[in-house]
Amino acid sequence: MNQVIVSQKVAVTSRVCLLTLSSQQGQVLPAWSPGAHIDVFLPDGMIRQYSLCGALDAQHYQIAVQLEEQGKGGSRYIHQSLHSGAELTISEPRNHFPLTEGQSPCLFLAAGIGITPFIPMIEACLAGNRPFSLYYAIANGSDNLLSEQYTSLANVHIHDKATQGVRLDIDALLKAAPADSDIFVCGPNGFINDVLSLSAQQGIDSARLHREFFTAEPIDHSNDGSFEVEIASTGQVVSVGKDESMLEALEDSGFFVPVSCEEGVCGTCITPLLGGEADHKDVFLNDKEKAQMDRVAVCCSRAKTPRLILDL
Ligand code: FES
Repeated sequence: MNQVIVSQKVAVTSRVCLLTLSSQQGQVLPAWSPGAHIDVFLPDGMIRQYSLCGALDAQHYQIAVQLEEQGKGGSRYIHQSLHSGAELTISEPRNHFPLTEGQSPCLFLAAGIGITPFIPMIEACLAGNRPFSLYYAIANGSDNLLSEQYTSLANVHIHDKATQGVRLDIDALLKAAPADSDIFVCGPNGFINDVLSLSAQQGIDSARLHREFFTAEPIDHSNDGSFEVEIASTGQVVSVGKDESMLEALEDSGFFVPVSCEEGVCGTCITPLLGGEADHKDVFLNDKEKAQMDRVAVCCSRAKTPRLILDL
């Protein structure tokens, strides 16, 4: 955990503010890499994840926060009640959306606030002479979060739906992507799911696809049943009722599993799975990872077999 001060808060569009976070005692904040995010701890126990979008070598962090009027209140609190000078607790940076190693071309597909992790990725590509193209879908020009320093680049393409009248042609972009390219996508769930399903239709190897969800779709728990979890280290068996999560049952039995989003997005609670078949409900693991059945998000996933064996 790090204690930071909101050293600056600037409105960059009508719905997005940029926070600059500086350490309280002037210490150097932990290093991070493009694609990393931090957890921000807010009053009432709310924890929100935001991608780091400032300069990698800066003495401070920067995060962009979009106001979600229909959200659970985290972004509303930040927009309306968090002011410059306020103290905040944040996690160490974690990176579940890293830029791949090497010099393969990168296709960056961003929509809306999903542009934020790509800003340091662009910087890394520019610094390492790595070829990349960025396509950034926005609803209209006033939503653009990229500064002129990026929009002036020949390989940065802004797709403004209001002026162009059509959606970004993801299908065509995927077809045109070099066969050795890495494809990165971030944005609203519908945008990410379109990229994933069109990629699957085109037979693109899922190893080339890298995605980061910000929020989960509502999870259908209507068919949830009870099951058991065996703790591999002790043999203890924990019963999970149909109305409780695996996480809740584990916590009630005294087991600690680190959590953050509690809705299958961030990957913090992923726990090694040694036996049984999980009913994966998260969006953190991709289809290939889910099929491997070697880990499970205990905050939201359940079981298809009567018992799961967890490496706890
Ligand atoms: S706590 Fe975020 S995926 Fe489980």
